[in-house]
Amino acid sequence: MSSESGSPQLAVVINEAVQTLREGGLVAFPTETVYGLGADAKNPDAIKKIFTAKGRPSNHPLIVHLAAPDRFDQAQVDWMPVLAPWVRDLSEDALKLIHAFWPGPLTLVFKKDKSVLTELTGGQDTVAIRAPAHPIAQELLRKLKGGVVAPSANRFGKVSPTSAADVRSEFAGLLDLMILDGGDCEVGIESTIIDLSSGTHPILLRPGLITPTEIFAKTGIRVYSPGESNLSEQESSLPRVSGSLRAHYAPRTPLRMYSSGRVLDALSEFPDTKSRVAVAVWDSDSSLGDDGHPSVHFEEVLVPSDSTAFASRLYRTLRDLDQQDWDLILFPEPPSGEEWDGVRDRLQRACFGSGPSSSSHANN
Ligand code: TXA
Ligand code: MG
Repeated sequence: MSSESGSPQLAVVINEAVQTLREGGLVAFPTETVYGLGADAKNPDAIKKIFTAKGRPSNHPLIVHLAAPDRFDQAQVDWMPVLAPWVRDLSEDALKLIHAFWPGPLTLVFKKDKSVLTELTGGQDTVAIRAPAHPIAQELLRKLKGGVVAPSANRFGKVSPTSAADVRSEFAGLLDLMILDGGDCEVGIESTIIDLSSGTHPILLRPGLITPTEIFAKTGIRVYSPGESNLSEQESSLPRVSGSLRAHYAPRTPLRMYSSGRVLDALSEFPDTKSRVAVAVWDSDSSLGDDGHPSVHFEEVLVPSDSTAFASRLYRTLRDLDQQDWDLILFPEPPSGEEWDGVRDRLQRACFGSGPSSSSHANN
């Protein structure tokens, strides 16, 4: 994919995508996390189309995606002119985070500049911004010379897409959508979101590949979790995050987690014995061993025991299993440890929202 990113054909397709965005259309494009459903961040009608296409409530804010400064050399690059049209002020912490992690899978929430459309902020006075690392996303943003709002390119509450084919299947029959194909997404789960807008402490709103420990190691900045006790006042003013709904990222097939060696316990919730159960098993464990059940057909699916590799495959695996007509999907509970927080968060929500009525859950 990236070997193609300089090809003449790709340049033509990207020009067409830029034209579509300028005319107020939607374009799906790859990022390193998941595919985004993009619209011109300065066009209120285009933004409305995103909410309609996704079936997403209009008070759920979107992330603005920006191009990194041209020919960036990490030490010298000047992000100020890039951000000035969008954010009210840029703290020293913000600049440190940006220099350490952009372009990359980190979204920062700022107090918004007054020109930022409230249609994209869900009426809030803050704006979420990220500079994605994927070369096709960067090329699109550079050529557009503007911001692109892009939620994950899935219907509201569904599993985020990590390939162009996933996006196509999400909107098949609903929308004639231009999709830029950048291959499979490397990170595989959505960006880490940190709120810099609501007081003195940066707060983790959504865990992702980039963890508070990595942030501290690279910048010396301590990121707080919303649960930390001294934050009660700030917490009450925390912005809405649609990914924080309990039911999200959900497959249609019922999905549950099992603790180590306890596959059968996970079945107890399903008294009508399930006949076909897909069980994800760590690739470091050889198999489920004796944990059989006479009337259940288990099929094992290996999943990586490394957190980064697991994240990269998580949505792919959920989507594939969801197409295969299992009665139940079981995943092992991720181990404790911050590097697993992102996937644990997504899996918990996916379990909660899963099942045949997942769309009605998610839309509540
Ligand atoms: O990795 C990603 O972030 C992907 C790719 C496409 O960039 N995008 C993504 O967008 O996950 P979406 O819309 O599915 O999730 C964006 C999250 C939502 O949970 C939204 O509530 C939150 O960002 N968000 C957006 N603006 C916000 C704001 N001003 N304050 C707090 N949260 C905000
Ligand atoms: Mg999403």
